[in-house]
Formats: sequence, C-alpha cells, structure tokens
Amino acid sequence: MASTQAAQGAPVLVASNRGPVSYEVREDGSLHARRGGGGLVSGLSAIGPDAGALWVCSALGDGDREAVRRGVGEAGVRMLDIPADVHSDAYNGIANSVLWFVHHMLYQTPLEPVFDAEFRRQWASYETYNRAFAEALAQEAAEGAAVVVQDYHLTLVPGMLRELRPDLRIGHFSHTPWAPPEYFRMLPDDIAAQVLRGMLGADRLGFLTHRWADAFTACATEFAGGLGGTRVGVHGLGADADFLRKRAHEADVEERMAALRAEIGAGPDGSPRRAVVRVDRTELSKNIVRGLLAYRQLLDDHPEWRERVVHLAFAYPSRQDLAVYRDYMADVRRVAEEINSRYGTPGWTPVVLHLKDDFARSLAAYRLADVALVNPIRDGMNLVAKEVPVVSDEGCVLVLSREAGAYEELREDAIAVNPYDVVETARALRSALTMQDGERAERTKRLAAAATALPPAQWFLEQLHALGDQPS
Ligand code: F6P
Repeated sequence: MASTQAAQGAPVLVASNRGPVSYEVREDGSLHARRGGGGLVSGLSAIGPDAGALWVCSALGDGDREAVRRGVGEAGVRMLDIPADVHSDAYNGIANSVLWFVHHMLYQTPLEPVFDAEFRRQWASYETYNRAFAEALAQEAAEGAAVVVQDYHLTLVPGMLRELRPDLRIGHFSHTPWAPPEYFRMLPDDIAAQVLRGMLGADRLGFLTHRWADAFTACATEFAGGLGGTRVGVHGLGADADFLRKRAHEADVEERMAALRAEIGAGPDGSPRRAVVRVDRTELSKNIVRGLLAYRQLLDDHPEWRERVVHLAFAYPSRQDLAVYRDYMADVRRVAEEINSRYGTPGWTPVVLHLKDDFARSLAAYRLADVALVNPIRDGMNLVAKEVPVVSDEGCVLVLSREAGAYEELREDAIAVNPYDVVETARALRSALTMQDGERAERTKRLAAAATALPPAQWFLEQLHALGDQPS
C-alpha cells in the first residue's frame, strides 16, 4: 500500500473486487506483476498520478495473497488479503452465482434459484467481504474524500462506509444491468432490503444506461420506500478512441491480421471471404450459442453464402471456477464443431473458434470484420459494440442485440435483433453481409462517433464532479 497516502488519507478512492494489477509467483519464488487495462484503469488516469488516488481491491489468487504478505505493492493500490474461502463464497457464490444471475435474469426458474442454508452461509461471507472493504476505505480516506465503489460485488459497502465515515462523499457505479422489480423480488425479502439499503448508503448511484437506472429506482421505490436522499445518474462509458486506434496499428496486430486473413481464405471466385466477427469474454449472458445457431441458419437459408463467409468467434474463458461457465464453454465448442462438420469442405472452415485470450488478435479481427455480431441476452453496455466501429479499416456492419446497454446509443446505425430469435438474427446477418459499401462506411462513421462520446477519462471525471468538488 502507499504509505504516504495512508498517513494523510487519500482524497479520491476507488473500490472494486478486481484491481489494476495481479501477481504471479514464479518458479524461482519471485513475484511477477501484471497490469490490467479496461475503462476504470484509463478513467482513473484522468486525474493523474499526483492526485493521490487510492484503489482498494481484493487479492484474487495465491500470487496476490503472497504479494500482500510480502508487503509488495504498487503505489496507489491497496490489496486486501481476504481469506480465500471467504472470497470464494462472496465472489463465486453470491456475486457471480446470485447477483449476476438476478441482474442478467439468467435463472432457469423451474429449478433455480434455491435460497437454502448454504446460500445463507455464503451470504455471511459476502457481508464479511463487503465489511473488509468498508473498513479499509474508512481507514484510508481523507476527511471529505470521494469514494467510488464499483459493481455488484460491493453493494453493501456504501451503507457500511456511511456508518463508519459520515463525512465521505460516496458513489457507487454498476457495470451490469439492474433487474426489474418482478425479477429482483426473487431474492429473499431481507436480502433484497439489505442490498438496497447498502446501495442507498451512497450519495449517488451511477448506471450505464437509463434503462438500468430506472430499474434500480423502481426497485428502491417498491422495496425500500424510495431513493431517500440518494441521487441516480447515467454515465454511458464509451470506447477509448486514442488508445484503440494507436494500439490497433502496432506490429503484433498487423501480424495477427495476416494470420487471420490466411484462416479466412478466399471464396470460389478467388476474392477474400467475408468475415462475421464476435469477441466475448464467455459470460453466460453473451449468447454465443444462439449466435452460432443464427449463422447456421444463414448457411441453411442462403446456401449461396457457403464457402464465401467465415464466422470468427473469439470466446475467451471467464469465471472458470464455476461449473456452469465451464459447461457453457463446452456447449460453444460443441455447436461450432457441429457446424464445421456439417457444412465444412476441404478448403473452408465455416467457424473459426479461438478460445485463448489475445487482445492483439481481437483488435486485428475488429479491423478486418465485415460484420460484428453482438447479441447478448442482457448486457450492462458491451464495449465490443463500441470498439469495432472505432478501429474498423473498411467499415463494419454492427448486428446488435436490443438487450445490450450499447443499444441505447447505437440503435440508429446498427441492425437490431431480438437475441432469442435466431431466424431474425440470421436475416440480420444476411442484410449485414449484403449492405452496400457506401452505406456501411457511413454507418460505421456515425457509430464510431456515438461510441466515443464519453471516453473513459471523461466518464470518470463526470462521476467525480457529480459527487461534488474535491477537497483541497
Ligand atoms: O462484464 C463486466 C463485468 O461484469 C463488470 O461489471 C465487472 O467489473 C467485471 O465484469 C467482473 O469480471 P470478473 O468476474 O472477471 O472480475
């Protein structure tokens, strides 16, 4: 942790489960630090390294825990050594298996959820984990500091922190959707009330779209007697155009473009095949299987597209501690293989599936995509939908689910789909593949403008300003 900050207290604090750095213990016993990217990292850079900001996060793996124990750390980051079993109950058990499911409406309700004694035991760990954050923030914050708490992992923190430090200006930002009242009420009454009370401990709550902000307000009205004094605001995180455009033209991306072009190959007439691209962290909400089924439907309905198109599907593993996520990855693989064995020919692989996370290859695919398929069943925002038009070389048609947060800003120039309707999605893919070059380029230009309206730095500053001016 940063000792100078601890002595005086930090004026700006961010709290999130996953921090900006992670550690790995090497074979020789040394610790190797890996820095992450993402909106919050670039957002925080807006206030500069001298602002004395502190990022409070959880140790996630053995390497992180070892780093905390050895006192190794980055300036401006405090990692909490929460016991592994408590963290697992809170993160895997409650955050990812209950709150994520509620907000994304993912349950197969005839059989789940079941709120039993095991759920109650895990909930107690979620409280312990939230309390560890609240106590660390209370200890580190300067008088009147601004604290921005992130996400469904930390819903109880604002309320707990308010009790410990009434002087602080507390914000909370949700990167996910919020469930509508009819779904949220599935939670046991006392747990639903606790979540809302925790959130309403904040001065201000931020959401990615009006739809999610309105859903929260509706839940607060129905189950907590209203918002009280808490304000609700919308900040639609945009793509980081400067970073993406520069990064997308580095040598490793060019190399991967060449490799992808070879995988895509040429059609019967010798011209390059068209590429339908999707890139996802494989969360259950991303709807990759129906995307594949829609592509199969396209090949069935329009055999003229066989041999002339390739579906590049990048499905990067996420949350693999959970069996349901591992099973979903297996389903994605199985359906892709079925399509390839049914339609593939010696010179044509209809679906090229990549499972190993490779950011440079994702950017390469963004640049050469003719069509981007973003069809989540529900998504807080979906930054892929915003990033593709920004880096596309020749223009790319965006097929976009109306259930993605990004739809609110991109609907005009995307082809909208109901993510459950694979016949409609197949039709949308065909319209996308046959769109005239001029229209495609024009739409891409407008999509890129809309996608970059609120870059991460401004997104973060907006939230800070909305919380009130920083203390001097
Ligand atoms: O996809 C966005 C998101 O849900 C964010 O809300 C959150 O910050 C992140 O995913 C958490 O992902 P992970 O479980 O990999 O830390």
